[in-house]
Amino acid sequence: MPEHPSTTPALTSESVGDFYDHMGAFFDALYGENIHFGLWDDDPNPSMPEAQNRLTNRMIDTLNLQDDEYLLDVGCGTGHPAIRLAQRTRARVLGVSISPTQVAKATEKAKTAGLATQLEFIRADAMHLPCEPETFDAAWAIEMLFHVPDRIQVLREIHRSLKPGGRLVLADFVQTAHLTDDDWTLLTQGFAFSSLLNTDTYTDVLTQAGFEAVQIHDVTNQARPNIRWIESRYTDQRDDLTAHYGPDFTAQMDELLPTGVSIYTEKLGYVIAEARRPIDR
Ligand SMILES: C[S@@+](CC[C@H](N)C(=O)[O-])C[C@H]1O[C@@H](n2cnc3c(N)ncnc32)[C@H](O)[C@@H]1O
Repeated sequence: MPEHPSTTPALTSESVGDFYDHMGAFFDALYGENIHFGLWDDDPNPSMPEAQNRLTNRMIDTLNLQDDEYLLDVGCGTGHPAIRLAQRTRARVLGVSISPTQVAKATEKAKTAGLATQLEFIRADAMHLPCEPETFDAAWAIEMLFHVPDRIQVLREIHRSLKPGGRLVLADFVQTAHLTDDDWTLLTQGFAFSSLLNTDTYTDVLTQAGFEAVQIHDVTNQARPNIRWIESRYTDQRDDLTAHYGPDFTAQMDELLPTGVSIYTEKLGYVIAEARRPIDR
């Protein structure tokens, strides 16, 4: 099964930044403060915020950061996962986003939460991280890598920024079935996808970027209910979105969203991957 991109040219980092600057109100309305999927349990009254926090908790528990350890948050969104981490640990965080609007929001939220000394957010391109080598004890990338055309480049940048022995955990979409060119165009133009891997090639890519001790956890089944939540939030929030973006936006979304939902349900999966920068000998 060929991975993507196959035909449509990949987006630039800047255009992904523009996408998030523009789509902030859309994500606020449909996702809430975390711009990521969640892990759903058999809760009697499940909600997306709860499921999202469960995913963030899993990332936090996996890294097990100690006091004063330093985390690189690659693709930090509006800072909510980093804030949750700072409320649960005494680790410090540098969050990086390509969207200046997100960086401003994240910085403001950290200040309001009284966490400004623990958390810093900067606008930067993960393709060229402005970090000294061997700075961080750990890194995470929560739903970020599908936006970059060259994952190996970004993963090498993360590897370079980690200390030897540094831990990485990431959450990402994967391709589980053949995507037509129309599917790929919709994912690219509607949702700023730039690349997708198959579950079974993920380990190779992390290894090529220099990581070891790779573990891939397929959590597709736990992630799938997000899509129903997003659909129903869209129905509830449609009038507000029309007021914010105008009727052309929601008219276009009325067409994009159902196709996006069926592509996601039938052809995409979701993984959490763990890896480590080897200790140099
Ligand atoms: C789906 S959002 C996830 C945000 C956040 N991790 C969360 O879970 O709430 C994707 C994030 O990746 C960031 N991103 C995409 N491409 C990037 C790049 N080339 N460099 C830095 N950040 C990037 C976006 O700006 C956005 O913050």
